[in-house]
Amino acid sequence: MKIAIGCDHGGVNLKEYIKAYLGESGIEYTDFGTDAETPADYPDIAEKVSTAVRNEDFDRGILICGTGIGMSIAANKVAGIRAAHVTDTYSARMARQHNNAQIICLGERITGQDLGLEIVKAYLGEEFAGGRHERRVSKIMEIEERNINGVKI
Ligand code: RB5
Repeated sequence: MKIAIGCDHGGVNLKEYIKAYLGESGIEYTDFGTDAETPADYPDIAEKVSTAVRNEDFDRGILICGTGIGMSIAANKVAGIRAAHVTDTYSARMARQHNNAQIICLGERITGQDLGLEIVKAYLGEEFAGGRHERRVSKIMEIEERNINGVKI
C-alpha cells in the first residue's frame, strides 16, 4: 500500500507522528509537505495529495491541518476524490467501508497524537464493503458529474 501524506503548518507534529508509524510498519509513503519551518496554505497541499491519489499514484491519502476541515473541503474539490474528515476510529472505518473514501483528513488541534494514529490504523485496516454501498458511492460521483461544469455558485 502506498500512502500520500501532507499537512499545513497546523498539522506538522501529527504528520511526523504518523510518518514514524508508517516507517516502522514498512508502509510506503510520500510526504507532500509542509515542514516545520515552512508555513503552507492547506488548499495547496490538499490539491497535491488529492491529485496524486486521484491519478492512482497512491492507494490512500492522509491530510492534516489544524481542524481537518479546510483540508477536507479542498480535497473534495478534486474530481474523483472522496475525502472524509474524521475524529474517531469508528468513522475512520466507515469512511472506508461505506464511503470508499480514498483520503482521510485529521485536525491536529482537535485530535491528539495517539488517537490520531489509532484513526489512521483503523482507516488503513479497512476495505470498501461494496454491495449497496457501491450504489450509494456511485450516486455521490453522479452528483459531481452533474455539477462539475458551468455551475455558478
Ligand atoms: C491554519 O491556521 C488553519 O486555518 C488550518 O490549519 C486549518 O485548520 C483550516 O481548516
